[in-house]
Amino acid sequence: MQCSWKSVVLLALASIAIQYTAIRTFSAKPFSLLCSQAPGPALETSGPAVNCGLGALPGPGQETPEGFDRGCDELLSASSSTLSLPSYNDSRRTHVLILATTRSGSSFLGQLFNQHPEVFYLFEPLYHVQSALLPRLAQSRNPAERRVMLGAARDLLRSLYHCHLNSLESYIRPRPTQHSTDKLFRRGASRALCSPPVCEASLGPVERGLVLGDEGECVRRCGALNVSLAAEVCRDKRHAAIKTVRIPHVGDLRALVEDPRLNLKVVQLVRDPRGILASRIETFRDTYRLWRLWRATGHRPYNLDLGQINTVCEDFLSSVSTGLARPAWLRGKYMLLRYEDLARSPLQRARELYNFLGLSLDHSVEEWILNNTRGSSELSSRQKYGTIRNSAANAENWRQKLSFDMVMYTQTFCQPLLELLGYKTVSHAGELRNLSYSLVEDRTFLPSL
Ligand SMILES: *[C@@H]1O[C@H](CO)[C@@H](O)[C@H](O)[C@H]1NC(C)=O
Ligand SMILES: *[C@@H]1O[C@H](CO)[C@@H](O)[C@H](O)[C@H]1NC(C)=O
Ligand SMILES: *[C@@H]1O[C@H](CO)[C@@H](O)[C@H](O)[C@H]1NC(C)=O
Ligand SMILES: *[C@@H]1O[C@H](CO)[C@@H](O)[C@H](O)[C@H]1NC(C)=O
Repeated sequence: MQCSWKSVVLLALASIAIQYTAIRTFSAKPFSLLCSQAPGPALETSGPAVNCGLGALPGPGQETPEGFDRGCDELLSASSSTLSLPSYNDSRRTHVLILATTRSGSSFLGQLFNQHPEVFYLFEPLYHVQSALLPRLAQSRNPAERRVMLGAARDLLRSLYHCHLNSLESYIRPRPTQHSTDKLFRRGASRALCSPPVCEASLGPVERGLVLGDEGECVRRCGALNVSLAAEVCRDKRHAAIKTVRIPHVGDLRALVEDPRLNLKVVQLVRDPRGILASRIETFRDTYRLWRLWRATGHRPYNLDLGQINTVCEDFLSSVSTGLARPAWLRGKYMLLRYEDLARSPLQRARELYNFLGLSLDHSVEEWILNNTRGSSELSSRQKYGTIRNSAANAENWRQKLSFDMVMYTQTFCQPLLELLGYKTVSHAGELRNLSYSLVEDRTFLPSL
C-alpha cells in the first residue's frame, strides 16, 4: 500500500476525530447521572422539565477520512446541538468570554471578573481540551485540526457556562475519580475554587486572590477539587466568566453567540503585538530562545520561527476586523479592549466594561483595582502571570526590551493591524526609546449596540 503524506495526515485527523467522539461519548455519562439524580438548586427553582436525552452521536465508523475534512465542523456542531442541556431559565445570567492571546494582559482583565462576588470565573479551562486532543499541535495552523479543536472547545464552553463542570473531567489527565481532581489547570487563579465552600482551608488574602499572589498556596492547602461542589457554586453565582487564549477568532464563537439561552458576550482583549512579543521572550524562554539570540547578537537567526508573532497579527487582524464590522449576529455582544487603555485607566475601563455587559461593578472590583495598580510591589516580579505591577508603565516597557531591528521587523508584517488598532510605528531608535512619546493613539472603540 502506498503511503503518501496526505494519507498520513488524513489518518491522523481521523484518529483525532475518533478520540474526540469517544471523549464526547464518555462525558455524556456523568451528564445523565447528574440529571437523574437530584438537580442543583438553580435547576429546581427555575427550571421546567429537564430533558436529558442524548441524541445520536456520530459513530467512529461514520467518519471516513474523505468526508472528514469537509464535514467535520457540521458533524461536531450537530453532535453538540443534539446534546440537550437542562433548559432552566438563565436568561438573566450573563456569560462573559474573554478572548485573548498569551501575554496580552488577560490575567489582569480576568481579575476584574474574578474579584466580583457574583461571578464564577474560570481561567483557561480549554487548556485541557488542547492537551487531550492535540498535545503536540499547540500552534496548529492546519485548518482541519483547528476545526476539531474548536468544535470541542465550543462544546465545552457551552457546558461550562451551564455549570456542567463534569464535562471538563473527561479532558483532565489523569481522569478524575469520583469527581475529584488535583489536576485542574491553574485552579488557584479562580477565586471561587479557592474559597468556601469549595475550599474550607483558611487562606490569607493573598491566597484567596484578593491580592494576586501565590496560586500554589490554594492548590497546596485546599486539597483535591470537588468538581460537583464547584458546579454547585457555579450555579449559585449570577454570572460566569471564562478566559481563553485558545480561540483565535470571534467568528469561531458564532454558534455560541447566537444561542439565545446562553446570553454570551465577548470581550476581545488586544495588545500591541510588539509588546506581546517582548513579554513572550521574557516569559517563554525556551520557545522564544532564538529571539533572545537575535537580541543578544544583533543577527537574526536564519531558522527563527516568524509564525510566533505573525500568527498573533493575522489572528487579531481577522478577528478584530470581523468585530468592528459590526455584523448583526454580534450586535451588543462584542467589545474590543486594548490592554494599553486598560492599563492606563483601569477603573474607567472597568466601568465601561461592566456597563457594556449590563452588570453592576462591585466595590470589591474597584478596591482590587486600586490595590493592584498603584506602583510596583515586592510581589510583582515573583510571578510569571502576576498582575501586580505598575500597569501603566508596564504597557509600553517593551520599547526598552526589543532591539530596534526586531521592532522594525515586526512592524513590517503587522502594519495593517497596528493601523487598525491605533498603534504608531517607529522609524528610528530615538523614537522607539523616548517614552515620553506614546505609541498608543487615542482611540475609542465603541461596542455596537
Ligand atoms: C426568564 O426570565 C426572564 C427574567 O426574569 C423573563 O423575562 C423571561 O420571560 C424568562 N424566560 C422564560 C423562558 O421563562
Ligand atoms: C463533593 O461535593 C458533593 C456535593 O456537595 C458531596 O455530595 C460529595 O460528598 C463531595 N465529595 C467528596 C469526595 O467530598
Ligand atoms: C485592599 O488592600 C487592603 C489593605 O491591604 C486589604 O485589607 C483589602 O482586603 C484589599 N482588598 C482587595 C479587594 O484586594
Ligand atoms: C521625546 O518626545 C517628546 C514628546 O514628543 C519630545 O518633546 C522630546 O523632544 C523627545 N526627546 C528626545 C530626546 O527626542
